[in-house]
Amino acid sequence: MADLAAPGATTISHSPPPLRALRWDDSRDGPALLLLDQTRLPAEEREIVCTGIPTLVELIRSLAVRGAPVLGLAGAYGVALAAARGFSVADAAEQLATARPTAVNLAVGVRRAFGAYRTHLAAKPGDEDGAAAAALAAARAMHREDAEASTAMAAHGLALLDRLVPGGAHRLLTHCNTGALVSGGEGTALAVALAAHRAGRLRRLWVDETRPLLQGARLTAYEAARAGMPYTLLADNAAGSLFAAGEVDAVLVGADRIAADGSTANKVGSYPLAVLARHHGVPFVVVAPSTTVDPHTPAGDAIEVEQRGSHEVAEFAGVAVAPPGATAYNPAFDVTPPELISAIVTEKGPVSPVDVSGMTQLCAMSLSS
Ligand code: MRU
Repeated sequence: MADLAAPGATTISHSPPPLRALRWDDSRDGPALLLLDQTRLPAEEREIVCTGIPTLVELIRSLAVRGAPVLGLAGAYGVALAAARGFSVADAAEQLATARPTAVNLAVGVRRAFGAYRTHLAAKPGDEDGAAAAALAAARAMHREDAEASTAMAAHGLALLDRLVPGGAHRLLTHCNTGALVSGGEGTALAVALAAHRAGRLRRLWVDETRPLLQGARLTAYEAARAGMPYTLLADNAAGSLFAAGEVDAVLVGADRIAADGSTANKVGSYPLAVLARHHGVPFVVVAPSTTVDPHTPAGDAIEVEQRGSHEVAEFAGVAVAPPGATAYNPAFDVTPPELISAIVTEKGPVSPVDVSGMTQLCAMSLSS
């Protein structure tokens, strides 16, 4: 966009190139999956060339690639990679689907690409190349659909915010990272905040740092700064006083798995925010694509919550902050019950209230897509 700064002078403001969490690459010796290494952000934007399934599994476990929707894409492209490189596709599918347990998208992505691979082989036995191409086409289709879902969620989410919090500029609190780094598009909850920003209706984005791995400080703040959003970082335990001061109009979070009753697993620390939001009469909104809705998980207590190592809590940037041998309680996620959720926004629109009737419709839509 060009604007006149002074007579005779023109300034040109450049938007930064979109962040791409992952991409398929055919340009070197054999196909590869390129992943933006999220463990190195915000210090540097470096891509990892991934050509093997054990490596991809390790990159998923170490959170080099992370966030529910993009884990689905990593799983699907991983199956395509195994097929294209002549590895055992069944083994790859098994290893990838179980690399992390909570985000349902990972297994969904693996199933979709593996399904396309097997369907092709059933129709044309022995045509491994065709089956590999079918798996890649499935991964690419998911990637496109996820980008489209992101655009739709942003629009639905902003319309909902304008209804829930009438009167203009929003002060939004978010947790973890839910932007372009987790998506084929601009993300889930952060895409809604970005839409508000573009519409001139974001007064402040409050960014929880998100202990212990700092996805908020390292990744959301990075994305917000790149997009020129007005954001302020806070330690997770400062959220209570922020609500008490009346500084939060709505909470927006993503999801790793939404059970059939609406219970939502998301980054640990989401549930306390939902409790705070309820106490202070602030809407708590979950934004996630329908691929995160899991009709086969009946309720929150059936969601497997990933437990991670003590060192993530007992160390900070590799430096010990607890006595040697200290053990830590370190669940990666927590589960927010439906009665604390004001709305679930998917690409198909908002469900509010999050009750049996709304969830029955959402689960039916999710099964049919
Ligand atoms: O452990 P992570 O970083 O993969 O956790 C990610 C989250 O909890 C996100 O909030 C969630 O995946 C939603 S992203 C749309």
